[in-house]
Amino acid sequence: MTTLPDVTPPRLVAAVSKAELLDQVLATAHREFAAQRPVSQQLHEQACRVMPGGNTRSVLYHSPFPLRISHAADAVVFDVDGLTYVDLLGEYTAGLYGHSNSAITGAMHAAVDAGLTLGAHTVNEVRLAEAIVQRFPSIQMVRFTNSGTEANMMAVALARVATNRPGIAVMQGGYHGGFMYYGGQGSPVNAPYSTTVLPFNDAATARSLLNRNADTIAAVVIEPVMGSAGCIPPTGKFLQDIAAATAEIGALLIADEVMTSRLGPQGACPMFGITPDLMTLGKYLGGGASFGAFGGREDLMSRFDPTMAGALPHAGTFNNNTLSMSAGLAGLSEVLTDAVVHEVNARGDYLRDSLNGVLGQFNWSATGMGSMIGIHPVSGPITSPHDLRNADPRLRDLLFLRLLDRGWYMAARGFIALTLAITDEHVGAFVADVADVFSETPQLHVN
Ligand SMILES: Cc1ncc(COP(=O)(O)O)c(C=O)c1O
Repeated sequence: MTTLPDVTPPRLVAAVSKAELLDQVLATAHREFAAQRPVSQQLHEQACRVMPGGNTRSVLYHSPFPLRISHAADAVVFDVDGLTYVDLLGEYTAGLYGHSNSAITGAMHAAVDAGLTLGAHTVNEVRLAEAIVQRFPSIQMVRFTNSGTEANMMAVALARVATNRPGIAVMQGGYHGGFMYYGGQGSPVNAPYSTTVLPFNDAATARSLLNRNADTIAAVVIEPVMGSAGCIPPTGKFLQDIAAATAEIGALLIADEVMTSRLGPQGACPMFGITPDLMTLGKYLGGGASFGAFGGREDLMSRFDPTMAGALPHAGTFNNNTLSMSAGLAGLSEVLTDAVVHEVNARGDYLRDSLNGVLGQFNWSATGMGSMIGIHPVSGPITSPHDLRNADPRLRDLLFLRLLDRGWYMAARGFIALTLAITDEHVGAFVADVADVFSETPQLHVN
């Protein structure tokens, strides 16, 4: 039998084998993850029998099966297999206070002791509302909801009624809750608003799209720093330009500060020189209990005043639940001083700069602002979610698993939100481990 000579061009061999190698390394990492976590695996299989994919919150799923946490203390989470991790995820910004802040846990215990499900106006809802109005300059009046999603949907509902227009404008890639996601082709479960999608950090195009749809847009909904879309700050005067263009077409500006309100003592909007008509809040402001709020101009918010004829309805059994009101109040009044806000965000800036010192060598980047950080297998600059379109999800996955091996927990998509329990020592040790992981895993290097 004659053997044919191997005529495959050498460059092709190299390209194929690098991709295959990444798949192999990732498959090994998945096998190792599973081997170390038999209890998690068993619970996941149990969960799959009663919950689709064993899941009740899509973002938490990752391959081969998700981490299952049993408990936590301060900066550390413990999984059901007895492994421990420093928590850099910070519950996607909602866990700002860490896992055991005594002011928060004390307030929650007191709320439990005072009896739950009161079915009436309560004391702490007034105090929390006052604290929020004092803190955020654009909020003259506020109402509470159960989640950031609800807060955004109520703000949009108010804007549609107030302007008598049906549509909204959002940023490409924006996430404003389970029914308001504008990445990729959008989401089939989105609320059915007619929607104009604008490019982030491209004021000229955004303005012309707004002008083209001027008569139908009730509100422009924008996160001052895009969070879930990759932690992307605005450049130049982008936010001011959007605010001006919004006002020019007679629409309302809704700033979704569900994540970003932690970036400065008064939230992010004043840092960029904008004053939205309405603002939405959530996450950490409930102190770790479920929470959302929307507020803004008094003339708009007073449409909900139940003593007025034709008042807009706004329901929600748990809107003023005592756990969220008490824990949220304790956080704002006892923990989150201006100095504390500055400190956690300065630590985040330092971490991002240090990470970029390491990641830059391998064509990765760290983005974000203050205590919110995104890690991407893309060299940058990253000024819009579009710049992340070629990021290889396998690289994110591999880094996530390698860092779990070393006891660091962040979002599988590369998201970090520092909590008050994270120290300078944690930051230094994390950066050193990231450097080690990259030097011992050449498959992570981007060409
Ligand atoms: C910017 C932004 N808006 C709204 C939401 C929705 O908040 P919730 O999950 O409380 O409904 C999120 C959640 O991640 C968010 O990041």
